[in-house]
This record gives sequence, structure tokens and C-alpha cells, in this order.
Amino acid sequence: MRTPRRSLFLPTLAFVLLSSLPLRADASTSDAVLLSRAEAHEHNVHEHKMNMHEHVHSGTVLEHWNETLQLETHAPTPPSYFTLDFDNVPETEHKYTGLMFLHGLLMGLAFFVSLPAGIALRSVKHAWHGIAVASFYGFIAMGCASSALYTKLSPHLYEGQAHSRQGYLTILVAASLTIVDLLSIIRRIFAFVRSRQKFQLRTFWNSTILGRDETWLKDLTPEEYVGLVSEEPEEIELDDSGKGLASPTSSERRVHYDERTIHGSTAQWANDVNRAHSVTSERTLLGSRSMHSDDTLDVTKPSYRTAVGWKQRIGNAVFATVERSLVIAGFALVISGIVVYTGGCRENYITGCLAHLIKGGIFWCYGLLTFARYLGAYSDLGWSWNAPGDRSTPTAEFVEALVITLYGCTNTWLERLGALPGSPYTTKQIQHIGIAVMFWFAGLIGMALESKRLRRWVSTMTVASLPASVDRNSEAVAEPPSYRGSFNPFPALVIGVTGTAMAAHFQPYRFQVEIHMLWGNLLAGFAVLRFLTYFFLWLNPPRSLLPSRPPTEALASFCLAAGGMAFMLSTEEVTIAAMRRGRDDSMMFANVTVAITCLAFCWLVGVVGFKAFLRTRSSPKVSFHDTA
Ligand SMILES: *[C@@H]1O[C@H](CO)[C@@H](O)[C@H](O)[C@H]1NC(C)=O
Repeated sequence: MRTPRRSLFLPTLAFVLLSSLPLRADASTSDAVLLSRAEAHEHNVHEHKMNMHEHVHSGTVLEHWNETLQLETHAPTPPSYFTLDFDNVPETEHKYTGLMFLHGLLMGLAFFVSLPAGIALRSVKHAWHGIAVASFYGFIAMGCASSALYTKLSPHLYEGQAHSRQGYLTILVAASLTIVDLLSIIRRIFAFVRSRQKFQLRTFWNSTILGRDETWLKDLTPEEYVGLVSEEPEEIELDDSGKGLASPTSSERRVHYDERTIHGSTAQWANDVNRAHSVTSERTLLGSRSMHSDDTLDVTKPSYRTAVGWKQRIGNAVFATVERSLVIAGFALVISGIVVYTGGCRENYITGCLAHLIKGGIFWCYGLLTFARYLGAYSDLGWSWNAPGDRSTPTAEFVEALVITLYGCTNTWLERLGALPGSPYTTKQIQHIGIAVMFWFAGLIGMALESKRLRRWVSTMTVASLPASVDRNSEAVAEPPSYRGSFNPFPALVIGVTGTAMAAHFQPYRFQVEIHMLWGNLLAGFAVLRFLTYFFLWLNPPRSLLPSRPPTEALASFCLAAGGMAFMLSTEEVTIAAMRRGRDDSMMFANVTVAITCLAFCWLVGVVGFKAFLRTRSSPKVSFHDTA
């Protein structure tokens, strides 16, 4: 009766009715938040029929844990490394909890301290990059040693664990990046030798080992070298209209700074901009001039963006992406490590376990990325709620919508993965497929809204249908200020709908319902706060290239990350373990969730701050003028 396509319309409706619909996940609204109240009854009858062959009976939410009931459908939970270390099951004489703790600590240092520090140091070609890389491998070697010792000394309690394989694969990827690095150093040494330059330790170190300045590379044209030096496209220049990236053309833009001149010229230039855009005096533009301390770099050369070979650009982008993904791979390793240690995801728990951990992990990382955007980490792409420097880069909303579409496409088919062929669709499958199809199509709408071409077509259509008496060049046909920004509520809508649906998801136990409500409401909170961000920015779209830091966005990212964390904690086995041990307290789970989220945000502030600090150190002094 419910076709998946209908779920595209229903979420939109449901979201409008958000305030009027009950968010409590009791028996009468087990999963009916997407339906109107009138349909809810019919829906429950339907669900009851579908669940006849499942052990869960719709309409009864159990208050207390019942081991007997669980054993009807699941094998008894075997002991794990956790029970070995903390409950002494199976009994042992020696415990090596310290070794496992050491493994976690060392790997944490490698992936969450050395690795991000290395990435930041590389971006400015700092001499200490090598030290960060060496410490990364040092921590990894020691961490592997301690875990190897732990497994050697303990009985095997997890058959077919994937954590080690996953870990070695990640280390292999990291090692291949290091090899690429070493090869480029070797290439530069060869080129240096071939160039028969007089050997000077200082230039050799700077140009050959650190790769800061490749002017002497004879096989490269000057244009190309400029591109190579500015490997990261983070330098942004404004043209005189303050609208976009311009190639530096006049000699006035030569990199020759002292504090006084840059301040003078910036102030004067900002004044020009202000005159041009007399709409608001609040957001003054500021020239973040090319940030190279290299006095050899002459930016009067033709625009480096076009001069960089596309192979080089793709290579750099792939390298940077893979390098940053290693941090996320480190996070995945933390999760799989915890799973193996606590003995989770075995036997018929595996599918639900994977679904919660992977999807929760995606929301968690998405929340952290959103906070990084708020902090200004992607201001060069115009993703930090700032005016984009380069209009040709895809907007953050486009990327969000693209990811949402891909996620929806893949998940539509995954839901039936565990089902027997020919078996009827269960209510749960229809619910989840409905959500996946919503992701799919809402993502497509989101991408379409980001298309400037589509917008231009519609504008052209509008202008073309104007009566001939209207002056085509008049103010009335000018682009509205909101075209400067990208206001696309669909990514947030999708997540908000998912959240409200999940807050009403039927669960066998009261405690599981509460945990689902916790993260469902957090995701819905993200959506509401993101809408508020758009509301404020729509009234006053950002003009400055600096991150505008909408406060609603900080809260939104917090809700999103905390929602992802609570999503992961709502894994069936986690809630069962909590109930078994009498720890089924949703406030405790909420507190732990926000604590971990704050810790991660603190780490993120540290990482972004460190990178910004390095950039500031290696740049000429830039003075900012306030906009009061
Ligand atoms: C647990 O479930 C079993 C099987 O459904 C039932 O017989 C038993 O009464 C339940 N125990 C409690 C304490 O509810």
C-alpha cells in the first residue's frame, strides 16, 4: 500500500507538521511519524500482520530485560576480551589490560595527533613534517607490538576478527603515501644533480628536501613552477569588484609586503569595495593576499590556477584526499577495535550492528566536518559560510546532496540483503527503504538546486516573459542578493526527517526506544538549527571571504555529531549490555555522548588552530580591520 515514491512526499509533509506530531515512540505511534494520525491506526494493523513471524510483537514495549526471551532467537553471548579483563570470564590468572590500554593510546596518538599534525605541517612544507611522519610510524610500531603481545598472552575470544586486517590495510595506504613523498624528494635530488648547480646546504635543504622552491628545475616552465609551489589552492585573491578570484595582473600585487603597505593598500582597496557595494557596511571585504613567504615567488606571473597541469592538480587532490581519509580510517579502526574487544557484532547481530555503526559513524564524521566548516577549515572553497573565493568549486550543499544521493542509492538495495528471496516485505524494510528512497530523490533535488545553469535558465525564462516596456538593464532585473549564497534546505530536511522518524522507531525495549529518541531528536535538532542558519544568512548573505561563523551552525554541528555518536550507541548489543548490567539509563548515555562530542570538538579546534597557526607563521603579516 505504501509505495517508496510516496515517501518522498510524506517526509516533506511530516516536517511541516513536525510540531504537531507526537515524537514519543510509544506503542500507538511505533513508527508512524511519517503518517498522519488518521493513517496511523491502519498502519499498526498492517505492521502487526507483518510482524507475526518476528519475535517482536507490535504494541508491546518491554520495560525490563528478559534473557529468556532473547535466547529464543539469539545464541548466548560468548565471552569477550572485555569480560576477560573486567569480569574474569573465562577465568585467567594473568590479565594484560595494560597492554590493550597502551595499544589504544599509542594508536590514538598516531592517528589523531601525529597524522593531523603531519597533514598541517605538509601544507606549509614545514621542516618538521618528517618528524611528524616518523612519530606516526613510531607510535604505530609500538602500538602493533603491544597488541600483538596482548593477543599472544590471551586466549582467542573473537573468531574471524577484521580489525587487524583493516589496520594493516590502513598502514599500507599510509606507507604508499610516504613512498610517493620519498619519490618526489628523490626526483628533486636527481633534478638538482642534473642542473649542476653550486651546492649550498641552505638552498639544497629548502628546495630539494622540503620542496619549497623549484625554480631551478629546468624541465619546468616558470608558469608550471608557480603552480607547483602553491600546491594547496588556498591562496585567494580578490579582483577589484570583490567578487571572485582573479589572477594577479598589476605589479602592485607583487609579493613584497611589509605591514604598513599591506594595511594601507588593503584599507584603501576595501574602501573601494565598500563604495561598490554600498548595501551594507557591516561586512567589509579584506584582502587576504597571497600567503607565500617565499620571496622568490613572483605572483605577477599569469594565473597559477590555469597554469597548473591538470595531472598535477588531480594528483595533489587525490593525495590530499587520501591523506585526510586516513584520519577517518583511524576512527573506523577505533570502532572496529572496540567491537572486537567487547565481542560485539557476532552471529546474527552482525547486520544491525554494521548498520548502526556505519551510519552512525557517517553522521558523526559529518558533524565533525560541519564543525570544521564552521571554524573556517574550508573557507578556501567557500564552505565556511563565507563568500566563495572561486565560484567554480562545487558548493558544500552540492557535495552534501551528492553524498546523500549516493547513500540513498546504495541503501535502497541493502535493506533487502538479509531477507530470504521471495519473502514478503516487512514493515521495517518498507520503512527503511522509504527513507533510502527519500535520500535518493531529495539528494537529486538538492543537487538540482545547486545548479547555476538551471537557475540561469529560470532567470532567463522570467526575463524573457517580461513585457517589452521593462528595461532589461534596470535594477529590477538584477540578481537578488540571495544569489550570492547557496540556500539549500534539502540535505538538512533529509536528516531532520530521518531523525524524527527514528525518534519514533519501534523497539522491543523501553530503553532502546529512549536511546533512539535521543539521537533521532538530536538529528532533528540539527535540521532546525541548519534552517535557522539559512534563515539568517538569507537575510544577509556573506560578503567577506572570512568565515562568517553563524552561531546556529556551531550548535547544528554539535547536534549532528552527538546524534551520530548516540546512533552508534543505540546498537542493539550496546543497549542489551547496558540492560544486562543495570546501566540502562538514557541520561547517562546522553551525558557520555555529549562528553565524547565535546572532546572531539576540542581536538578539532586544536587541529584547525594548529594549521592556521602554521599558515600565519609562514605568511606575511596581514592586518585585519574591523567592520564596526
Ligand atoms: C520472559 O519471556 C518469557 C518468554 O516469552 C516469558 O515466559 C517470561 O515470563 C518472561 N519473564 C519475565 C520476567 O517477564
